Amino acid sequence: MNIAVEIGGRGKRGLLLSNPVMVASGCFGNGIEFRRLFDIDRLGAIVSKGITLRPRQGNPQPRLVETPAGLINSIGLQNIGVGRVIKELAPIWATWRVPVVANIAGESVEEYASLAAQLDGTPGVSALELNISCPNVENGLEFACHPPLAAEVTAAVRRCTALPVIVKLSPVAPNLVAVAQAVVEAGADALTIANTYPALAIDIWSARPVPSFGGGLSGPAIKPLTLRLVSEVAREQLGVPIIGCGGISTWQDAVEYLMAGASAVQVGTITFRNPRAPLEVLEGLESFLQQQGIEDLSQIVGAALGS
Ligand SMILES: Cc1cc2nc3c(=O)[nH]c(=O)nc-3n(C[C@H](O)[C@H](O)[C@H](O)COP(=O)(O)O)c2cc1C
Repeated sequence: MNIAVEIGGRGKRGLLLSNPVMVASGCFGNGIEFRRLFDIDRLGAIVSKGITLRPRQGNPQPRLVETPAGLINSIGLQNIGVGRVIKELAPIWATWRVPVVANIAGESVEEYASLAAQLDGTPGVSALELNISCPNVENGLEFACHPPLAAEVTAAVRRCTALPVIVKLSPVAPNLVAVAQAVVEAGADALTIANTYPALAIDIWSARPVPSFGGGLSGPAIKPLTLRLVSEVAREQLGVPIIGCGGISTWQDAVEYLMAGASAVQVGTITFRNPRAPLEVLEGLESFLQQQGIEDLSQIVGAALGS
């Protein structure tokens, strides 16, 4: 059975995932803690926590609120900064079989380009995922909502790196297909669809919003919404793989995303409840394909699009 997924390639440096199950940025630390829990080398890829040029403390507490079937987070891109990532984390990642995708976030085109240039050629970093869609920082959605800006940042990163470039889109872009087309034309090798949905809860005892300025909704509640976005973009046949991400908690969810046109999936919020969930998604998917007599993963990618 062939379940490998290729990202990039075609004359450039590519990334071959041994299977389509990745973990989503911010939901798996930087991979290190999870090694005690299961064999992370079995995963298709690990996506790092968002990396910025300078270290960030993140937003004040409370930063996480549970909602029915969901989680609102406002972490605010807390991270140690690209310099320490290169010195301290990448050498560890370089010893793993599982590829690590560095998720990067900038406040300007120049910052994204600088992050890409610094990570290019760093052993242990196999691809870049551009987070142009974080709802929890000021102007975090600016790039993701405007096709020309999304294209500009993608092209700038493309010029600075030979690594595969994955662009992570926002589910609230007014015209997601236009953004997807723009970033593919600008050189994106793959699309992650999608980030969280801007959301809010109210603490009725203090009459205050939580998190203080709202946050991003993730988890099972968003699955049907993001699934639809994946199918909308997949119908356009843009020629790059789509990585589906939103509320995937079980192998059945992953199969739905694949049938809607995703070539790979990212498992996120469910890992806070069950850290082994990504592995269980992979094992369930493998058994399903075996039972169905499917020899190549591509046979089910987009299988539900015709109907
Ligand atoms: C606590 C938390 C932190 C996150 N941090 C990041 C991040 O640093 N960069 C990013 O691109 N996405 C981040 N995300 C978004 C996830 O990667 C994912 O796109 C989103 O949660 C939807 O998938 P899910 O419903 O499976 O969690 C974060 C999500 C959560 C819940």
